[in-house]
Amino acid sequence: MNKLYATVALTLLSGFMTLNAAAYKGQKIYMNSCKECHGGGQTLAASKKQRIWEKLMENKGEKLADIHLSSKKAQPSWEYFSDRSYSKDAKHLEDFLTEYASDTGNVPACN
Ligand code: HEC
Repeated sequence: MNKLYATVALTLLSGFMTLNAAAYKGQKIYMNSCKECHGGGQTLAASKKQRIWEKLMENKGEKLADIHLSSKKAQPSWEYFSDRSYSKDAKHLEDFLTEYASDTGNVPACN
């Protein structure tokens, strides 16, 4: 059991260390702006393929913003998604999300 945890920890650690600086920045943005609703960023990132994230995040994250701005449940995020700081963050978020997309192998499988 302990060995398993150590392996998982090491895998996570090496994952963090191979993160490029931009993805790291994106992760920090995720923590500040998305985590409260979506939980762990790597889990969310691993829910889609790289190509899907690229589509959601193109044009400064236009599609992702649309998803939120047209959902009443996401109302607390409206201010953020319509703010200029989101368009500045979008590229970093894309780097982070694509870094951990389901087809990168960067997220250790849970099963
Ligand atoms: C206030 C809560 C809230 C915040 C903050 C928020 N979201 Fe969401 N998000 C939602 C809700 C609610 C939905 C579901 C919208 C719907 O389908 O009606 C959603 C949908 C999504 C989807 C689409 C899910 C899918 O399976 O297609 C993605 C991707 C996503 N959010 C990513 C993000 C990212 C990245 C951020 C940070 C930049 C973020 N969200 C911030 C509430 C939030």
